[in-house]
Amino acid sequence: MTAEPTTTPAIEFRDVVKRFGDNVVLDGLGFTVEQGDRVTLIGPSGSGKTTILRLLMTLEEADGGLILVDGDPYTHEYRGDKWVRIPEKRRSQIRRRVGMVFQQFNLFPNMTVLENITEGPIHVLGKSRAEAVRRAEELLDQVGMAEKRDAKPNQLSGGQQQRVAIARALAMDPEILLLDEVTSALDPEIVADVLGVLRQIADTTDITMLLVTHEMRFAREVSNRVLMFDQGRIVEEADPETMFTAPTHERTQAFLKAVLDR
Ligand SMILES: Nc1ncnc2c1ncn2[C@@H]1O[C@H](COP(=O)(O)OP(=O)(O)OP(=O)(O)O)[C@@H](O)[C@H]1O
Ligand SMILES: [Mg+2]
Repeated sequence: MTAEPTTTPAIEFRDVVKRFGDNVVLDGLGFTVEQGDRVTLIGPSGSGKTTILRLLMTLEEADGGLILVDGDPYTHEYRGDKWVRIPEKRRSQIRRRVGMVFQQFNLFPNMTVLENITEGPIHVLGKSRAEAVRRAEELLDQVGMAEKRDAKPNQLSGGQQQRVAIARALAMDPEILLLDEVTSALDPEIVADVLGVLRQIADTTDITMLLVTHEMRFAREVSNRVLMFDQGRIVEEADPETMFTAPTHERTQAFLKAVLDR
């Protein structure tokens, strides 16, 4: 027998509903991200991209449907036909598999660079301080920030802060890394540095990545799938080459024309 090996998706959204008041942002959204996939979400402002990542970080609560990580219902599950919340303890265990880097860095302002990175591994993962520091130094080296280990975030440029934020996310050994427009708050000449760091991570790890970016060239180089969103729905899904050179959907064509002409 030569059956295809079956693997559980790293991420699955199944009929996910998210509303803010009367605004239905996700209306029964379904998609999967396979293990080791690098998936880019593109789409107009307000289409729900950040909401998807925030749901995955449990920074937002869904109003319906299932979100699964490695096949485990993560936020809610059905018991019979009842949709019930997953207890916080199990939820936080699963959340440890997921890391996120935000547009606005969100470093802890009162901690040094090194402390920003070791905080989670020590207090959440229970690593020894020595082990956490060793790994943090390795990561700081990798993102080119070793010399700034004792600086405070407000002593760093935006690009430097973002590189620290990337190191901080990686220090938690995530299986899944979520990246939300991580270069859009940066000066143009710094963008390439940060993208270089991310490209290196993509090339040297098998971390599953789900990213939102307006850097279409980066999306093309790093991702193996692109999902085009509009109004909380996937209007088109393709490999980057096809998506960026020969999109079939009119909505995608108009969107890409607008962003690429900018
Ligand atoms: N905390 C919130 N309270 C109320 N409405 C919200 C909240 N967060 C998001 N929304 C609404 O949800 C919709 C989707 O927002 P979201 O931030 O996911 O869009 P996006 O695709 O990331 O857009 P952008 O490209 O501008 O970042 C928008 O209509 C937005 O106004
Ligand atoms: Mg957004």
